[in-house]
Amino acid sequence: MNYFDELVRLLGNSYAPYSHFNVASIVVDRDGKPYSGVNVESVAYPTTMCAERSAIFHAISSGVKSGDITEVHILARDAQGSLSPATPCGACRQVIAEQSNLKARIYIYSSKDAAKQTSIEKLLPDAFVSLGT
Ligand code: THU
Repeated sequence: MNYFDELVRLLGNSYAPYSHFNVASIVVDRDGKPYSGVNVESVAYPTTMCAERSAIFHAISSGVKSGDITEVHILARDAQGSLSPATPCGACRQVIAEQSNLKARIYIYSSKDAAKQTSIEKLLPDAFVSLGT
């Protein structure tokens, strides 16, 4: 499914007064249910939260079980107002790997009709996802 229009709407909820880089994400569970998130910045910069993790925390808070996230959709808009394909940062990749299955698809939109498709397996090979106990 194409989530572009909903992601554009969500960009309006992004709180990014410092970077002016708005990001929206929708993660989808194995039943096809979507959960949204946006980046929320902080004047204490490192406490900023990315859109992808916001969406995943929304899903888990709503009862989605670890391993049941099957798609991650991402749309970003830069300070000039142009759409800008953004790949998830390292911290988000780590969280996506734990909360999705390794085959989960990542869709990075640059327009309504263009989304780069990749997988968390590609973005974070050999992910650390278990304490091995
Ligand atoms: N950001 C995200 O929300 N997701 C990404 O994939 C890349 C970066 C946010 C963090 C910060 O609010 C802004 O984009 C600039 O780094």
